[in-house]
Amino acid sequence: MKKIITADNTETFLNEEVGETYHSHTGAVDEALKKYAIPCKIAEKAKTGKLRILDAFFGMGYNSAMAIDIALKENPDCVIEVFGLEFDPEIIKKIQEVNPPIDFFKHYKKLSPTSLEFKEGNVTVKILLGDARETVKTLTDDSFDAVFFDPFSPKTAPEMWTKELFEDVYRIMKTSANFATYSCARMARDNISAAGLMYDDGPIVGRRGPGTIAMKWI
Ligand SMILES: C[S@@+](CC[C@H](N)C(=O)[O-])C[C@H]1O[C@@H](n2cnc3c(N)ncnc32)[C@H](O)[C@@H]1O
Repeated sequence: MKKIITADNTETFLNEEVGETYHSHTGAVDEALKKYAIPCKIAEKAKTGKLRILDAFFGMGYNSAMAIDIALKENPDCVIEVFGLEFDPEIIKKIQEVNPPIDFFKHYKKLSPTSLEFKEGNVTVKILLGDARETVKTLTDDSFDAVFFDPFSPKTAPEMWTKELFEDVYRIMKTSANFATYSCARMARDNISAAGLMYDDGPIVGRRGPGTIAMKWI
């Protein structure tokens, strides 16, 4: 895997086999903040004192690490639980090779393919290693406040953007939960909608199209 420096001067990797980078060229850390933490209202949710996040397609965990920073800045006493879904041990190893400007990321260095969870203060992070389509089924109750959905693109990995997977995500979302993804692909949106979620345009970051945000119909 080749290291790439993105437009906000933060690091990501190119997965040559897949032909895609792990983050947007417009800025890996910028994306974690603007496409995930802000649209999922992490700061507001942290005020409630409890936050459960699904970091689907965890990779090196930038999205959840950023959310933890934002949440703890808002409420240092917030109890935070992150569940990460990831199947490739190689990308988990790469956590040791990057240093994004996210305060909490230093604790992510404890993660490795043989050490998949840790607790630091009020924060617990746990990676469920395996195919997300299977591991998501082990999460049983509708207790998640936010879902960051960040697989490879619908073009390269259409099997990650199916109605079935979105239905499993729907099942574990609270009524008030926020969902965010970087893609605005028609197929992705149709399947998000078919799974019962109501979607809208997410933020436009860089020169690309908007992301997609979604919630349950109330
Ligand atoms: C766009 S990257 C995610 C980047 C990540 N959010 C980060 O901050 O580093 C997509 C990730 O999906 C993972 N992935 C691909 N297929 C998967 C599957 N079936 N189950 C779980 N993870 C998978 C890849 O290994 C990769 O880490």
